[in-house]
Amino acid sequence: MWALEALCDPLTIGVLARLRLPRQCNCLELGAGRGSIARWLATQCLHGSVLATDTDIHHLRRLREPNLTVVQHDVVDGPEFRQGAFGLIHSRALFTHLPDRDAVLSRVAGWLAPGGWLVVEEPILLPTGALLDPAVGDALTAFEHLMADALGSDFQWARNLPAALRAAGLAEVDVSGALAATSGGGAINEFWRVTLAHLSTDMVDAGLIDHITLRHALDRFNDPDYRDFTMAFVCAWGRSTS
Ligand SMILES: C[S@@+](CC[C@H](N)C(=O)[O-])C[C@H]1O[C@@H](n2cnc3c(N)ncnc32)[C@H](O)[C@@H]1O
Repeated sequence: MWALEALCDPLTIGVLARLRLPRQCNCLELGAGRGSIARWLATQCLHGSVLATDTDIHHLRRLREPNLTVVQHDVVDGPEFRQGAFGLIHSRALFTHLPDRDAVLSRVAGWLAPGGWLVVEEPILLPTGALLDPAVGDALTAFEHLMADALGSDFQWARNLPAALRAAGLAEVDVSGALAATSGGGAINEFWRVTLAHLSTDMVDAGLIDHITLRHALDRFNDPDYRDFTMAFVCAWGRSTS
Protein backbone atom coordinates (compact mmCIF):
# COMPACT_ATOMS: atom_id res chain seq x y z
CA MET A 1 0.00 0.00 0.00
CA TRP A 2 1.20 3.53 -0.79
CA ALA A 3 2.52 5.33 2.32
CA LEU A 4 0.02 8.19 1.97
CA GLU A 5 -2.88 5.73 1.80
CA ALA A 6 -1.61 3.77 4.80
CA LEU A 7 -1.22 7.02 6.68
CA CYS A 8 -4.52 8.70 5.81
CA ASP A 9 -7.10 6.07 4.91
CA PRO A 10 -8.22 5.45 8.53
CA LEU A 11 -9.09 9.16 9.05
CA THR A 12 -10.68 9.49 5.61
CA ILE A 13 -12.78 6.35 5.91
CA GLY A 14 -13.80 7.29 9.46
CA VAL A 15 -15.16 10.65 8.27
CA LEU A 16 -16.83 9.27 5.14
CA ALA A 17 -18.49 6.48 7.16
CA ARG A 18 -19.94 9.09 9.56
CA LEU A 19 -21.71 10.81 6.66
CA ARG A 20 -23.80 7.66 6.03
CA LEU A 21 -23.82 8.06 2.27
CA PRO A 22 -26.84 6.53 0.54
CA ARG A 23 -26.08 3.40 -1.47
CA GLN A 24 -27.22 5.15 -4.65
CA CYS A 25 -24.87 8.12 -4.09
CA ASN A 26 -22.93 9.40 -7.10
CA CYS A 27 -19.39 10.25 -5.94
CA LEU A 28 -16.52 12.24 -7.41
CA GLU A 29 -12.98 11.59 -6.20
CA LEU A 30 -10.61 14.42 -7.26
CA GLY A 31 -6.87 13.78 -7.55
CA ALA A 32 -7.55 10.11 -6.80
CA GLY A 33 -3.88 9.04 -6.90
CA ARG A 34 -3.76 5.25 -6.61
CA GLY A 35 -7.47 5.07 -5.86
CA SER A 36 -7.83 3.49 -2.42
CA ILE A 37 -10.65 5.86 -1.46
CA ALA A 38 -12.35 5.71 -4.87
CA ARG A 39 -12.36 1.92 -4.52
CA TRP A 40 -13.73 2.11 -0.97
CA LEU A 41 -16.49 4.47 -2.09
CA ALA A 42 -17.42 2.07 -4.90
CA THR A 43 -17.97 -0.70 -2.33
CA GLN A 44 -20.17 1.60 -0.18
CA CYS A 45 -22.27 3.17 -2.93
CA LEU A 46 -23.09 -0.08 -4.71
CA HIS A 47 -26.20 1.30 -6.44
CA GLY A 48 -24.55 4.60 -7.27
CA SER A 49 -21.32 5.45 -9.07
CA VAL A 50 -17.80 6.70 -8.47
CA LEU A 51 -15.93 8.93 -10.89
CA ALA A 52 -12.20 8.84 -10.07
CA THR A 53 -10.27 11.71 -11.65
CA ASP A 54 -6.63 12.75 -11.74
CA THR A 55 -4.29 14.49 -14.14
CA ASP A 56 -2.26 11.27 -14.06
CA ILE A 57 -4.48 8.17 -14.28
CA HIS A 58 -1.62 5.71 -14.65
CA HIS A 59 -2.32 3.98 -11.31
CA LEU A 60 -6.11 4.23 -11.57
CA ARG A 61 -6.31 2.12 -14.73
CA ARG A 62 -6.00 -1.09 -12.68
CA LEU A 63 -9.25 -0.39 -10.75
CA ARG A 64 -11.95 -2.88 -11.74
CA GLU A 65 -15.05 -2.05 -9.66
CA PRO A 66 -18.12 -2.16 -11.97
CA ASN A 67 -19.57 1.14 -10.69
CA LEU A 68 -16.24 3.02 -10.90
CA THR A 69 -15.11 5.09 -13.89
CA VAL A 70 -11.69 6.67 -14.34
CA VAL A 71 -11.32 9.97 -16.21
CA GLN A 72 -8.25 12.10 -16.77
CA HIS A 73 -9.20 15.57 -15.55
CA ASP A 74 -7.46 18.71 -14.28
CA VAL A 75 -9.52 20.23 -11.47
CA VAL A 76 -7.96 23.68 -12.02
CA ASP A 77 -8.69 24.23 -15.69
CA GLY A 78 -10.37 21.03 -16.90
CA PRO A 79 -13.95 20.85 -18.16
CA GLU A 80 -16.72 21.69 -15.70
CA PHE A 81 -18.85 18.89 -14.32
CA ARG A 82 -22.61 19.39 -14.36
CA GLN A 83 -23.93 21.59 -11.53
CA GLY A 84 -25.57 19.36 -8.92
CA ALA A 85 -24.11 16.13 -10.34
CA PHE A 86 -22.65 14.55 -7.17
CA GLY A 87 -23.87 13.53 -3.72
CA LEU A 88 -20.28 13.35 -2.49
CA ILE A 89 -17.08 15.00 -3.66
CA HIS A 90 -13.88 14.02 -1.90
CA SER A 91 -10.24 15.01 -2.30
CA ARG A 92 -7.09 14.45 -0.27
CA ALA A 93 -3.64 16.04 -0.42
CA LEU A 94 -4.64 17.96 -3.53
CA PHE A 95 -5.65 21.57 -2.75
CA THR A 96 -2.41 22.25 -0.83
CA HIS A 97 -0.63 22.05 -4.19
CA LEU A 98 -3.13 23.91 -6.41
CA PRO A 99 -2.95 27.51 -7.61
CA ASP A 100 -5.88 29.72 -6.61
CA ARG A 101 -7.11 26.93 -4.31
CA ASP A 102 -9.98 28.85 -2.67
CA ALA A 103 -11.53 29.71 -6.04
CA VAL A 104 -11.16 26.09 -7.20
CA LEU A 105 -12.85 24.91 -4.00
CA SER A 106 -15.84 27.20 -4.66
CA ARG A 107 -16.18 25.92 -8.23
CA VAL A 108 -16.02 22.31 -7.04
CA ALA A 109 -18.74 23.00 -4.43
CA GLY A 110 -21.04 23.98 -7.31
CA TRP A 111 -20.93 20.40 -8.63
CA LEU A 112 -22.70 19.13 -5.48
CA ALA A 113 -26.34 18.05 -5.56
CA PRO A 114 -28.58 19.70 -2.92
CA GLY A 115 -27.67 18.06 0.39
CA GLY A 116 -24.43 16.65 -1.09
CA TRP A 117 -21.18 16.61 0.89
CA LEU A 118 -17.79 18.06 0.02
CA VAL A 119 -15.01 16.40 2.04
CA VAL A 120 -11.50 17.84 1.76
CA GLU A 121 -8.47 16.48 3.57
CA GLU A 122 -5.09 18.21 3.58
CA PRO A 123 -1.81 18.08 5.52
CA ILE A 124 -0.41 20.65 7.91
CA LEU A 125 3.36 20.66 8.35
CA LEU A 126 4.07 21.25 12.04
CA PRO A 127 6.59 24.00 12.85
CA THR A 128 9.89 22.57 11.62
CA GLY A 129 11.94 24.69 14.04
CA ALA A 130 10.29 22.86 16.95
CA LEU A 131 11.29 19.35 15.90
CA LEU A 132 13.45 17.40 18.34
CA ASP A 133 16.21 16.70 15.81
CA PRO A 134 17.43 19.87 14.02
CA ALA A 135 18.54 17.84 10.98
CA VAL A 136 14.98 16.57 10.50
CA GLY A 137 13.77 20.14 10.93
CA ASP A 138 16.22 21.29 8.23
CA ALA A 139 15.11 18.52 5.86
CA LEU A 140 11.42 19.33 6.28
CA THR A 141 12.12 23.07 5.89
CA ALA A 142 13.96 22.28 2.64
CA PHE A 143 11.00 20.14 1.52
CA GLU A 144 8.50 22.92 2.33
CA HIS A 145 10.55 25.53 0.40
CA LEU A 146 11.12 23.28 -2.59
CA MET A 147 7.41 22.47 -2.88
CA ALA A 148 6.46 26.14 -2.47
CA ASP A 149 8.93 27.18 -5.19
CA ALA A 150 8.06 24.34 -7.59
CA LEU A 151 4.27 24.14 -7.21
CA GLY A 152 3.20 26.98 -4.93
CA SER A 153 2.30 24.39 -2.27
CA ASP A 154 1.09 25.81 1.04
CA PHE A 155 1.36 23.34 3.92
CA GLN A 156 -0.51 25.68 6.28
CA TRP A 157 -3.59 26.29 4.10
CA ALA A 158 -5.47 23.38 5.72
CA ARG A 159 -5.79 25.45 8.92
CA ASN A 160 -8.23 27.55 6.92
CA LEU A 161 -10.26 24.65 5.52
CA PRO A 162 -13.44 25.04 7.61
CA ALA A 163 -13.54 28.78 6.77
CA ALA A 164 -12.88 28.01 3.09
CA LEU A 165 -15.80 25.55 3.01
CA ARG A 166 -18.09 28.13 4.62
CA ALA A 167 -16.89 30.76 2.13
CA ALA A 168 -17.79 28.30 -0.65
CA GLY A 169 -21.39 28.48 0.60
CA LEU A 170 -21.53 25.14 2.41
CA ALA A 171 -23.46 24.45 5.61
CA GLU A 172 -22.99 21.97 8.50
CA VAL A 173 -19.23 22.53 8.24
CA ASP A 174 -17.18 20.47 10.65
CA VAL A 175 -13.62 19.24 10.92
CA SER A 176 -11.58 16.38 12.31
CA GLY A 177 -7.87 15.69 12.37
CA ALA A 178 -5.12 13.19 13.02
CA LEU A 179 -1.59 13.69 14.27
CA ALA A 180 0.97 11.34 12.74
CA ALA A 181 3.56 10.12 15.28
CA THR A 182 6.88 8.92 13.91
CA SER A 183 7.83 5.39 14.88
CA GLY A 184 10.29 3.07 13.11
CA GLY A 185 7.78 0.98 11.17
CA GLY A 186 5.07 3.63 10.84
CA ALA A 187 3.51 5.00 7.68
CA ILE A 188 4.73 8.56 8.30
CA ASN A 189 8.34 7.31 8.43
CA GLU A 190 7.85 5.51 5.13
CA PHE A 191 6.20 8.64 3.68
CA TRP A 192 9.17 10.84 4.64
CA ARG A 193 11.78 8.27 3.56
CA VAL A 194 10.23 7.98 0.10
CA THR A 195 9.45 11.70 -0.29
CA LEU A 196 12.82 13.05 0.89
CA ALA A 197 14.77 10.46 -1.10
CA HIS A 198 12.75 11.32 -4.23
CA LEU A 199 13.40 15.07 -3.83
CA SER A 200 16.96 14.84 -2.48
CA THR A 201 18.77 15.90 -5.66
CA ASP A 202 16.43 18.86 -6.24
CA MET A 203 16.73 20.03 -2.62
CA VAL A 204 20.55 19.81 -2.63
CA ASP A 205 20.88 21.38 -6.11
CA ALA A 206 18.67 24.28 -4.99
CA GLY A 207 21.01 24.88 -2.03
CA LEU A 208 18.22 24.17 0.46
CA ILE A 209 20.14 21.46 2.36
CA ASP A 210 23.48 19.60 2.22
CA HIS A 211 23.93 15.85 1.66
CA ILE A 212 25.18 15.11 5.19
CA THR A 213 22.24 16.76 6.96
CA LEU A 214 19.79 15.08 4.61
CA ARG A 215 21.42 11.67 5.17
CA HIS A 216 21.14 12.18 8.92
CA ALA A 217 17.45 13.09 8.61
CA LEU A 218 16.76 10.01 6.49
CA ASP A 219 18.54 7.84 9.06
CA ARG A 220 16.27 9.18 11.80
CA PHE A 221 13.23 8.00 9.84
CA ASN A 222 14.78 4.50 9.89
CA ASP A 223 15.42 4.67 13.63
CA PRO A 224 12.77 2.85 15.73
CA ASP A 225 13.64 5.04 18.74
CA TYR A 226 13.07 8.34 16.89
CA ARG A 227 9.70 9.64 18.10
CA ASP A 228 8.35 13.04 17.15
CA PHE A 229 5.46 14.75 15.36
CA THR A 230 6.03 16.24 11.93
CA MET A 231 2.66 16.46 10.24
CA ALA A 232 -1.05 16.53 10.99
CA PHE A 233 -3.95 15.85 8.63
CA VAL A 234 -7.10 17.93 8.65
CA CYS A 235 -10.32 16.53 7.22
CA ALA A 236 -13.14 19.06 6.86
CA TRP A 237 -16.58 18.67 5.35
CA GLY A 238 -19.60 20.74 4.50
CA ARG A 239 -22.99 20.28 2.86
CA SER A 240 -24.63 21.98 -0.08
CA THR A 241 -27.91 23.68 0.64
CA SER A 242 -28.74 24.66 -2.93
C1 LIG B 1 -0.34 13.78 -3.09
S1 LIG B 1 -1.23 12.92 -4.30
C2 LIG B 1 -2.66 12.35 -3.39
C3 LIG B 1 -3.36 11.19 -4.05
C4 LIG B 1 -4.63 10.69 -3.33
N1 LIG B 1 -5.62 11.76 -3.23
C5 LIG B 1 -4.32 10.15 -1.96
O1 LIG B 1 -4.44 10.88 -0.97
O2 LIG B 1 -3.94 8.99 -1.86
C6 LIG B 1 -1.95 14.23 -5.27
C7 LIG B 1 -2.67 13.73 -6.51
O3 LIG B 1 -3.30 14.85 -7.13
C8 LIG B 1 -3.09 14.78 -8.53
N2 LIG B 1 -3.19 16.15 -9.06
C9 LIG B 1 -2.28 17.15 -8.96
N3 LIG B 1 -2.74 18.27 -9.56
C10 LIG B 1 -3.97 17.97 -10.03
C11 LIG B 1 -4.96 18.71 -10.74
N4 LIG B 1 -4.74 19.99 -11.09
N5 LIG B 1 -6.13 18.10 -11.07
C12 LIG B 1 -6.35 16.81 -10.72
N6 LIG B 1 -5.44 16.05 -10.06
C13 LIG B 1 -4.27 16.62 -9.72
C14 LIG B 1 -1.72 14.16 -8.67
O4 LIG B 1 -1.54 13.58 -9.95
C15 LIG B 1 -1.73 13.13 -7.55
O5 LIG B 1 -2.25 11.88 -7.97
